[in-house]
Amino acid sequence: MQEKIIILDFGSQTTQLIARRVRELNIYCEILPYNKFPFGNEDGIIGVILSGSPLSVYDEKAFRVDLPRLAASYPLLGICYGAQLMAYTLGGAVEPAPSREYGRAHLSEVDSADPLFKGIEPGAQVWMSHGDTITALPEGFRVLASTPEVHFAAFRSADRPMWGVQFHPEVFHSTCGMELLRNFTVGICGAHCTWSAESFIDSTVEELRRQLGNDKVVLGLSGGVDSSVAAVLLNKAIGSRLTCIFVDHGMLRKDEFASVLRDYECLGLNVIGVDASARFFKDLEGVTEPERKRKIIGADFIKVFDEEAHKIEDVKWLAQGTIYPDCIESLSITGTVIKSHHNVGGLPEKMKLSLCEPLRLLFKDEVRAVGRALGMPEHLITRHPFPGPGLAVRILGDITPEKVRILQEADHIFIQGLRDSGLYDKVWQAGVILLPVQSVGVMGDERTYERAVALRAVTSTDAMTADWAHLPYEFLANVSNEIIRKVRGVNRVCYDISSKPPATIEWE
Ligand code: XMP
Repeated sequence: MQEKIIILDFGSQTTQLIARRVRELNIYCEILPYNKFPFGNEDGIIGVILSGSPLSVYDEKAFRVDLPRLAASYPLLGICYGAQLMAYTLGGAVEPAPSREYGRAHLSEVDSADPLFKGIEPGAQVWMSHGDTITALPEGFRVLASTPEVHFAAFRSADRPMWGVQFHPEVFHSTCGMELLRNFTVGICGAHCTWSAESFIDSTVEELRRQLGNDKVVLGLSGGVDSSVAAVLLNKAIGSRLTCIFVDHGMLRKDEFASVLRDYECLGLNVIGVDASARFFKDLEGVTEPERKRKIIGADFIKVFDEEAHKIEDVKWLAQGTIYPDCIESLSITGTVIKSHHNVGGLPEKMKLSLCEPLRLLFKDEVRAVGRALGMPEHLITRHPFPGPGLAVRILGDITPEKVRILQEADHIFIQGLRDSGLYDKVWQAGVILLPVQSVGVMGDERTYERAVALRAVTSTDAMTADWAHLPYEFLANVSNEIIRKVRGVNRVCYDISSKPPATIEWE
């Protein structure tokens, strides 16, 4: 049985980060909404972490849990709001702090004899982010650590397995954070740290075989790492009962369809490549509005995929490469779901298929680790993200096959240049945008009046925020020269130096 830590989410921005840190300790964990603890179905649970929250514990609408019931079965660690919830609901006091405490602090006093603080000394840096402060502990609780500003920076119950920390051990700036989380999960909860890519593959393959039996499964490949890893994992579990469909909408990168299809075949996947580019170009003719482009591409994709899938007799399941950040339901203050589980354009409902998502519990870097453990080639695993609608959202204005050709050539030079210079893996994502402007230039003795393109390269960890990549001038100069020299129809190259926010990564 899979041992696991449960993280109860009270809506904090850093809940996912707690899960990441626990997984980095090779311990399996799951995030659940604060009110969805699986009482009565608790196999494998060895401890519970209560996250932070934008709420105040004394608010009428504050999120609450049955702490005594949880603590009767598991060690609990409350972080920030989680700690305040313990203090407040068990008889202590929480009040608004005179000023919001935000940023670095240093522990001035530490009870290193307590198992939570084993190996952590006074002076350790922690990260604070709270507007309320604990002013009195419940009876039977005692303080374990303080900072100059916060007396009850950490505390515990004397008779129940409950610990609380006012600071955020999960954030990078808490230099003793990993140690503290290890002390809780391994030292206190007794985790065995056996979660690894290999153990994930073994248990998932077994689970998929049980779940799918002799059923047939269809999966849409995009060339991206998530769908590719999902396909290889399913192939390991059910072999040729998995059919993969890879649709060419005509707006992939230069030669990408053929080369990715070859990669998939080499991996032993049962894959059907469908060249539907003519249909997409026809439906996109004259369309300039970005959201309409996306809608047309989405709808056409579903039609093509549906047609192909129906050629497979008796298919019962649709598999997708959905990953954990897509699934986690974050809660808004009112308790409504602000980010809900997504699936590709309503495909499962339309096709009346059951959904199979073998990667739904993994973070992106874990998906990559699983891909490596499955023996997939590195270039498939380290590929940059690429938008579903492809180059269509990088051609500003209407789309024609000629514009796609120009963009593919320019994009190829940029991406190959990044690879040749060892810069590809240093950026999160890169591409070229074809601008809807023409400008005057001179080539030889000839006046030119041709298009401008913009190079875009960003660094990021999750695409939610991104900084423009500070690529060397020398490299940019070479790419610019090569594009203007080799790509007919382009006489000007710009570099996009906007970050997200306020810009976005794509231009449309
Ligand atoms: P933005 O432009 O919103 O992009 O900063 C964030 C990330 O999402 C990708 N992206 C898309 N992916 N369909 C997709 O599958 C889309 O319509 C789409 N739009 C943006 C983008 O490439 C970046 O990685």
